Amino acid sequence: MSIDGDTGGVAGPGGRERLQKVLARAGIGSRRVCEDLIDEGRITINGVVATLGDRVDPAVDAVDVDGVRVGIAPGLVYYLLNKAAGVVTTAADTHGRPTVVDVVPAEPRVFPVGRLDLETEGLLLLTNDGELTHRLTHPSFGVDKEYVAQVEGRPGRGAVRQLREGVELEDGPTSPAKVSLVSPDVLKITIHEGRNRQVRRMCDAVGHPVVRLVRTRIGPIRDTHLSPGEWRELTQDEVRALERAVHPEHPAPVLEVDPDGEDPDR
Ligand code: URA
Repeated sequence: MSIDGDTGGVAGPGGRERLQKVLARAGIGSRRVCEDLIDEGRITINGVVATLGDRVDPAVDAVDVDGVRVGIAPGLVYYLLNKAAGVVTTAADTHGRPTVVDVVPAEPRVFPVGRLDLETEGLLLLTNDGELTHRLTHPSFGVDKEYVAQVEGRPGRGAVRQLREGVELEDGPTSPAKVSLVSPDVLKITIHEGRNRQVRRMCDAVGHPVVRLVRTRIGPIRDTHLSPGEWRELTQDEVRALERAVHPEHPAPVLEVDPDGEDPDR
């Protein structure tokens, strides 16, 4: 059944729009598909199951599909940057060095999600979505991050085991990590904590200081095609996957841009 009648495409009083229109714009599916989702009771508005005919104000209402928040607020942007070494992860550097926000569009103003050290390279999210930023950076949500670390020397099994089980740092022991040797002096390390210089300090602690560090995955987000210094907008699928990643009851698959294929959202 379609209920999209005379006023379906027009914002009502107070900026309220038909729910299916807002959902379709957020990339959930066609308006018809979104109407079916509403009909099936899978959509909530501010925690209350929606019904056909409901309207929302995208700037203030919280809309969930199957319990997962949908980014409907106007003006939200999500960038994925492959940070180059030597670029500072702050909004403004007091020493006049290049910062990660210099690389992406100035408007709307965005902020980095967490930080990478000056010399660390790799994936960094920037957004003006404060709620998602909070969840992604809060250790209790356990979004894991994968790093590839080239280190001094050749870590043996003992070092790898220590890194996996947790090492003692001055601010406390690290949680168990996923660690593998990808070549004699290169470790792949996946952690979900975000402590200052954590990977470097972990490697120091087992006697193999980092020579080069690259972040290669943030939760479900990977991209092996962005060159250092390049950025792109996240696709709608990626934003939804991140939303699922911070709602642990709905785990997200890892998304990777198909090296040979087309990405329909781009
Ligand atoms: N761990 C580090 O040591 N540095 C980073 O930039 C990120 C994680």
